[in-house]
Amino acid sequence: MKVLSLIFPIISYVNCAKILAVIPTPSISHQLPFIPLWRELSLRGHQVTLMTTDPLKDSSLTNLTEIDMSYGYEIYDRHNSFSILSDETKSLSEIGRLLLKAGHDLIEAQMTSMEVQNLIHDKNVHFDLAIIEAKLPFYSAFAWRFRCPMVSVTSMEAPIWIQYAIGNEVHPILNPDSNLHIMDQMKLNFWERIISFLYTILLKYKVYGDILQTENARFKKYFGEDAPDLLEVQNNISLLLSYANPVFQNTRPMNPNSILIGHGMHIAKPKKLPKDLQEYLDSSKNGVIYFSLGSNVKGHLLNDTIKRNILQAFSELPYNVLMKMDTDLKDVPKNVKIQKWLPQQDVLRHPNIKLFISQGGLQSLQESITNGIPLVGIPFFGDQISNVYRMVKKGYGVRVDKNEITKENFKQAILEVLNNPRYREKAKEMGELLHDEPMTSLEKAVWWIEYVIRHKGAKHLRSPAVDMPAWKYYMLDVIGSVLGALFIVLFLSYKILKCVISKLLFGKPKAKKD
Ligand SMILES: *[C@@H]1O[C@H](CO)[C@@H](O)[C@H](O)[C@H]1NC(C)=O
Ligand SMILES: *[C@@H]1O[C@H](CO)[C@@H](O)[C@H](O)[C@H]1NC(C)=O
Ligand SMILES: *[C@@H]1O[C@H](CO)[C@@H](O)[C@H](O)[C@H]1NC(C)=O
Repeated sequence: MKVLSLIFPIISYVNCAKILAVIPTPSISHQLPFIPLWRELSLRGHQVTLMTTDPLKDSSLTNLTEIDMSYGYEIYDRHNSFSILSDETKSLSEIGRLLLKAGHDLIEAQMTSMEVQNLIHDKNVHFDLAIIEAKLPFYSAFAWRFRCPMVSVTSMEAPIWIQYAIGNEVHPILNPDSNLHIMDQMKLNFWERIISFLYTILLKYKVYGDILQTENARFKKYFGEDAPDLLEVQNNISLLLSYANPVFQNTRPMNPNSILIGHGMHIAKPKKLPKDLQEYLDSSKNGVIYFSLGSNVKGHLLNDTIKRNILQAFSELPYNVLMKMDTDLKDVPKNVKIQKWLPQQDVLRHPNIKLFISQGGLQSLQESITNGIPLVGIPFFGDQISNVYRMVKKGYGVRVDKNEITKENFKQAILEVLNNPRYREKAKEMGELLHDEPMTSLEKAVWWIEYVIRHKGAKHLRSPAVDMPAWKYYMLDVIGSVLGALFIVLFLSYKILKCVISKLLFGKPKAKKD
């Protein structure tokens, strides 16, 4: 190991590179997984320019320059983006339309901002690599502007147009899209298979049709008339880093330039808890239930009745409850302590935490099992639905329907998890599975990024599928030719057989003529 650690810095040495990172989504769960990566890259001597909605503002990172795009939060709020996602009265296409509108407003605000304008018009700026969030195709324009290789990163599974761009199989039955709210992603029923099949085709046409058309116009508007087709730029991705993991998602066949880095990379080193919180947790001898619905599920998404049921259930339990809630609650029981924000990772590390009640976001689940804490899941939207279903199936928590929370069933779910040691054992087991990897996800991500820099885009890893038209990829010409040949053979055999039979049965003269 000692020898290895001496060699490793030498073979992995890369001249300090200039890296542009663009993570445009105003949501902490899209930003958080990559914070250790920006830190690490800059500490290794790379000059990192980060466009983010959540700047680190850490002055000790002298090689990290940040472009603050936090105004994006206000734009998403104005469009109610996260309420729309869990609105069951709206159809999937309506939700898609509204989110797209928010996404386009966001792009406009970002592109017209002074800092971004300066960045793309300054002739003296150059980058060796662009790391871009796997979002709308438009953002790959930044890689084209600086004529540099592009790495795509995502805080979950990449959307299908990015999978196509890297040459990964998109299979609607093996890897259904999480927006479809299919609970059991391992075993779709007939109806779900039909829906997933149609959704994949329609989404493909939507993205490669009018979305790309709008974005191509915007690409030319902001980056100049000589801008090529955006699809060509997007299909130039050198590497895909997904914050996914087989503990939480279905496995999928991947081209060698698709790398999974979802092994809890965002989990930070322990920090000291604020004094009052530390005292509170230390003195809660019966144990503490931690309640948080994450940063995107706001308190107003639960109506007053449901909130009252939750508080009443808590009041009848012999435990303290630490609750993260952004709205004010009425009639708070004595054993419940509410705060607008909590240092979740450090709270979950405290030995008195017995249970986590969560919306089932990927990062919350990772943080919970890392500390061997079982859960009660209340999913709202997106991948939360299938995450929680999988959690129940694996046996480290139970699920409660957000529309059907009563005092009784909520209390029962909590007691079931707390009183049956099976859940805690399973959570611990899953945590060990999550963190068992040959090198940490951070090391893996850094190694692959520097690999792409060293090999100027590592184009030898590009899959031939990316440049192939669909008819070739799905072998329609081959299948057509084989079927055609088969048809001709069968047809001729039939004709000959018919002829022979008629010869045998009905006299010779006619046959002679033939
Ligand atoms: C910044 O980068 C230089 C090399 O470009 C490196 O020597 C230095 O340690 C880095 N400093 C920090 C604080 O990351
Ligand atoms: C594709 O990427 C390479 C660098 O890896 C770059 O030189 C080229 O201009 C890119 N092509 C397009 C169409 O963006
Ligand atoms: C709260 O939501 C539940 C489930 O959606 C519903 O049954 C109930 O009527 C609602 N209550 C109020 C006061 O809106």
